[in-house]
Amino acid sequence: MKVLVTGASGFIGSHACLELLNAGHEVVGFDNFSNSSPESIERVKTLSGKPMRLVKLDLRDPDGLDALIGEGFDAVMHFAGLKAVGESVEKPSLYHDNNVLGTHHLLAAMERTPCRKLVFSSSCTVYGAVEKNPVDERHPRSAVNPYGKTKLDVEDMCYELAAEDKRWKIALLRYFNPVGAHESGRIGEDPQGVPNNLMPYVMQTAVGRREFVNVWGGDYPTHDGTGVRDYIHVVDLALGHVAALDKLDSFKGAQAVNLGTGRGYSVLELIAAAAKAAGKSIPHKIMPRRPGDAPAVWADASLAKKKLGWTATRDLDQMCADAWRWQTGNPAGYGAADVRA
Ligand code: NAD
Ligand code: UFG
Repeated sequence: MKVLVTGASGFIGSHACLELLNAGHEVVGFDNFSNSSPESIERVKTLSGKPMRLVKLDLRDPDGLDALIGEGFDAVMHFAGLKAVGESVEKPSLYHDNNVLGTHHLLAAMERTPCRKLVFSSSCTVYGAVEKNPVDERHPRSAVNPYGKTKLDVEDMCYELAAEDKRWKIALLRYFNPVGAHESGRIGEDPQGVPNNLMPYVMQTAVGRREFVNVWGGDYPTHDGTGVRDYIHVVDLALGHVAALDKLDSFKGAQAVNLGTGRGYSVLELIAAAAKAAGKSIPHKIMPRRPGDAPAVWADASLAKKKLGWTATRDLDQMCADAWRWQTGNPAGYGAADVRA
């Protein structure tokens, strides 16, 4: 298929482009490089040995979208978006403009062409305060911050569109906690500033860029008192997108599917696995809980298996080993090659 990938040079988008190329798809990507570097796609081209066009374009540029989408695509994979929860609390209208209005422009541009196939990056954040684990797709949805609200709004936009026009086939992929890197160590997560998420913070501590890991809360009702999450290897996640694309014809309108492993690990378990991968101990201190964090969240991943024929196969040790290879091989991320806006 000829696939347009938005947010192509970002963490998950770059891994998805690589797996799409490996699966034989023709890929065109765009990004505004607000949180990524075009260097990731240079490396994707080298890793795949295949050509791929990357265009600088903003989701909020309707004319630019019309021109690009008008070239004709079989499907769109939509990763572009802002994702920092804290920033979304400070700048909710920026998040609405970028993620919700930006997606509105994208869908409107698609409607001016015959293309009605979409794979969208949703998140388990749409489950709000999780009531019961494992979480399946029927769990009630709610927004606990403006970022989460943008995911709910885009999901709703997709449900409404698909109800109006039966030609739409939309996979709303709800990711749990994506981590790791491609096993080559050439592409990976390149967060700006102090990482908010656990894995990059742990990796930066292991290389000595941070003094110790703050373990947010040691008194949760979990087996060791620390928060439990469903970490999923980014390559498994990327393969889940390729599987969703292959199965889109079987979708009835817009449908949500969890992408997780179905298994939860605690913060201390992740730190221990990362220490094993790095071959050194990783200093950490138990601190007060981080406001807004759930004690434990993990996926019921059975729908993905049934509907997409996909399951995650890479375990926590591999997630940490690959994240470590990326971190040590690229201590400054895409570094000098990074020309982000
Ligand atoms: P990322 O920041 O690495 O990638 C997003 C990309 O979109 C970046 O390259 C950024 O420059 C680009 N972008 C942002 N706004 C744009 C705009 N207006 N026009 C064009 N490009 C724009 O983040 P990621 O981790 O790869 O996340 C990809 C998607 O998955 C996002 O929609 C995110 O919300 C979603 N998601 C991520 C996680 C996670 O933990 N990483 C979890 C659930 C869902
Ligand atoms: N944690 C620490 N120390 C840190 C960072 C995190 O102890 O320095 C803990 C958290 O308390 C939590 C776990 O590690 O128990 C995971 O935290 P992350 O920040 O890595 O991930 P979250 O589960 O909080 O949220 C992430 C994204 C959200 C997204 C969600 C589901 O940040 O945007 O995954 O996809 F919605």
